[in-house]
Order: sequence, then C-alpha cells, then structure tokens
Amino acid sequence: MVKRTYRWRFNLAYIIGGILAVAIVLVLMSPLSDSFIAAGPMLIGHETLKCQECHQDERGTLRQQIQANVQYLLGNRQNAVSAGYRTVINKDCIQCHRRPNDRHPVYRFLEPKYSEVRQLVGAHQCVSCHREHQANRVSIDVEFCQHCHDDIALKNDPVDVSHQKLAADKRWDTCLGCHDFHGNHEMKIPQRLSERIQLEKIGEYFLRAKPPYPGKIIHKALSPDYEK
Ligand code: HEC
Ligand code: HEC
Ligand code: HEC
Ligand code: HEC
Ligand code: HEC
Repeated sequence: MVKRTYRWRFNLAYIIGGILAVAIVLVLMSPLSDSFIAAGPMLIGHETLKCQECHQDERGTLRQQIQANVQYLLGNRQNAVSAGYRTVINKDCIQCHRRPNDRHPVYRFLEPKYSEVRQLVGAHQCVSCHREHQANRVSIDVEFCQHCHDDIALKNDPVDVSHQKLAADKRWDTCLGCHDFHGNHEMKIPQRLSERIQLEKIGEYFLRAKPPYPGKIIHKALSPDYEK
C-alpha cells in the first residue's frame, strides 16, 4: 500500500512537471510584440529599426521551433525562439553593414581550423559580440584577441614594446588601444605603447560612448528609408 502511494506521487510529480514544461514552452512561443519587454533595450543606433529588419519569418516548422525551445530550457541553446520568427543570422546584419574591408569577416571563421575558436569566441557570428536588446554596442570581453593571436610575432616590429613581448606578458588589454577590430576606422596606428587609447575609453565605447578612434568610419551603416 505504502509503496503504491509513493509511486502515485512520483507519477504525479512527472505529470505536473510535464504540464509546466509545456506551459513554459508556450510562453516562449508567444509572438514578438507580446514579449518585447523581455527583449530589452536596443543596441545603440538601432533604436528606430523595425523588428522585422532582423526578425524575419521562420522557415522552420512549428515542431522545430518547439524543439529549439526545449533545447533552450535544457541549456543547450543561448536563446529561445518566438513562433513564426527564425534566429537572427549574419545576413540580417550584413544587409545594412556592408564592409568589404572587414579584416575579420565572419565567413572566414567557418573554416574547420577555427572550430575550437568558434566555441570560445563565436567570431563566425555577429551576434556573439553584438548581442541585441542589451543596449551595449559590444558585448564581449576586450581581451578576446588572445584566442587567435597568441603566437603573434612581427618581422621588424615597429612598436616600442614588440607584439611578441605583449603576447608573452598577456597584455591583451592593449590590442584594441591601437587596432580597431573590423578595420573600419580611418586611423594611423600608434607605434608607442604609451600612445594607445586607454582601456577605460575602450570600455566606455563598448557600452555607448562615441568611438575613441580618431578617424571617421569608412563604410557607414545603411539607414532604412521608412518614408517610402
Ligand atoms: C538589429 C537587429 C534586431 C532588431 C531590429 C530587433 N531585434 Fe530582437 N533580437 C535580435 C537578436 C540578435 C536577438 C537574439 C536572438 C537571436 O539570435 O535570434 C533578438 C532576440 C529577440 C527576442 C528573444 C526571443 C527570440 O526570438 O530569440 C525577442 C522577443 C525580440 N528579439 C523581440 C524584438 C522586437 C519586439 C523588436 C522590435 C521592437 C526587435 N526584437 C528588434 C535582433 C534584433
Ligand atoms: C536595417 C538596417 C540595419 C540592420 C538590419 C542592422 N543594423 Fe546595425 N546599425 C544600423 C544603423 C543605421 C546604425 C547606426 C549607425 C551609426 O550610428 O552610424 C547601426 C549601428 C550598429 C552598431 C553600432 C555602431 C556604432 O558605430 O555605434 C553595431 C555594433 C551594429 N549596428 C551591429 C549590428 C548587428 C550585429 C546587426 C545584426 C544583428 C545589425 N547591426 C543589424 C543599421 C542596421
Ligand atoms: C569576435 C567579436 C566580433 C564579431 C564576431 C563581430 N564584431 Fe563588430 N565589433 C567588435 C568589436 C570589438 C568592435 C569595437 C572595435 C571596432 O570599432 O572595430 C566592433 C565594432 C562594430 C561596429 C562599429 C564600428 C564599425 O566597424 O563600423 C559595427 C557596426 C559592427 N561591429 C558590426 C558587426 C557586424 C555587422 C558583424 C557581423 C558581420 C560583427 N560586427 C561581428 C567585435 C565583433
Ligand atoms: C577568431 C580569430 C581571431 C580573433 C578573435 C582576432 N583575430 Fe585578428 N586576425 C585573425 C586572422 C585569421 C587574421 C588574418 C591574418 C592573416 O591574413 O595572415 C587577423 C588579422 C589581424 C590584423 C591584421 C589585419 C591586416 O589587415 O593586416 C590585426 C591588426 C588584428 N587581426 C588584430 C586583432 C585584434 C586587435 C583582435 C582583438 C580585438 C583580434 N585581431 C582578434 C583572427 C582573429
Ligand atoms: C602601441 C600600438 C599597438 C599595440 C598595443 C598593438 N599593436 Fe598590433 N600593430 C601595431 C602596428 C604599428 C602594426 C604595424 C602594421 C601596421 O601599421 O598596420 C601592428 C600590426 C599588427 C598585426 C599585423 C601583423 C602583420 O603581419 O601585418 C596584427 C595581427 C596585430 N598588430 C595584432 C595585435 C594584437 C593581437 C595586439 C595585442 C597584443 C596588438 N596588435 C597590440 C600597433 C600596435
């Protein structure tokens, strides 16, 4: 008798758990407009963009969307998906941010040799470093250069403290002080460590401050024309 009650309770716990899980998945599937508050503030410069610029119709089936949300609950996915919308992909960003001069183009890091680095940095996807709805401009740690440039050494290094020494001393906090990441600012690169932009300024830029790099932007973002 006693044993039976336990089993019944045990089963009941499973049933309640199951119902709750389905309910949570359904909440996650609610249309975009309903969960906007949960989405959070836009990235700087994106305040006037329409949701559909990035959230295009989902091509996957409802089943795939449910599966994606189950994976999200299990911790195997970074984001939940709303019904009817697919995950935001590089193509969505590149339609407005066309930069043929990008020195770290996302597609480059699809090569097999970067598979480990993809796990660490996600340099093959814009949204790894520019999470939307968090207000920040850049949402990755400044020292991420180390994952790909740890064996750096320049022939006739023009910098007063060589790149090799900077890497050996793990001075990854200095890199963005002399180089931007995409190479999209017109600028002369300093040759003295003391002339670099200070880390504090880079940190403020990652949030919302104006770019600390002196020159102008080479390829500006295309603004959509909503008048038409
Ligand atoms: C500039 C691109 C962009 C715009 C514009 C944008 N979003 Fe997003 N949104 C993202 C990215 C990137 C994510 C992260 C999830 C992903 O990768 O799909 C996200 C995630 C979300 C999520 C979390 C659930 C999900 O589907 O992943 C919601 C909800 C959301 N956005 C709602 C909105 C709404 C509402 C608007 C319009 C007011 C909007 N977004 C505009 C890029 C954008
Ligand atoms: C419909 C066009 C459009 C789409 C789509 C779009 N952006 Fe933007 N983005 C802009 C505009 C316009 C600005 C403001 C540019 C400025 O301030 O000079 C901007 C600003 C930014 C900035 C800040 C730039 C700065 O100099 O302050 C980043 C970072 C950015 N976008 C990344 C992304 C990413 C990542 C995606 C894809 C998830 C994306 N954008 C999708 C148009 C777009
Ligand atoms: C591995 C991290 C990383 C990835 C991936 C990445 N970015 Fe960036 N992005 C940065 C950092 C760091 C900065 C700040 C330094 C700078 O201005 O170059 C930045 C700056 C920017 C800026 C402002 C300066 C400029 O270049 O106009 C825009 C816009 C931008 N990124 C868009 C994108 C888009 C679009 C993608 C995908 C095609 C992307 N980023 C992929 C790290 C990344
Ligand atoms: C995911 C790997 C990866 C990350 C992370 C990365 N880089 Fe690179 N970087 C590369 C590759 C690959 C090249 C191209 C090297 C080549 O062509 O020989 C490159 C080239 C460069 C160049 C030379 C570009 C040119 O046109 O000659 C500079 C400067 C640079 N990276 C700086 C940085 C800085 C600063 C960071 C951190 C903010 C960084 N990189 C993060 C992979 C990476
Ligand atoms: C004091 C400024 C300064 C600092 C700090 C600095 N660099 Fe450089 N870097 C330069 C200069 C100057 C060059 C010479 C090439 C040029 O003028 O484009 C260069 C060149 C490079 C190149 C291109 C090498 C090639 O073969 O053409 C890479 C990659 C690079 N730096 C990565 C880094 C990384 C990663 C860090 C952080 C450890 C870093 N740099 C820190 C100034 C700096």
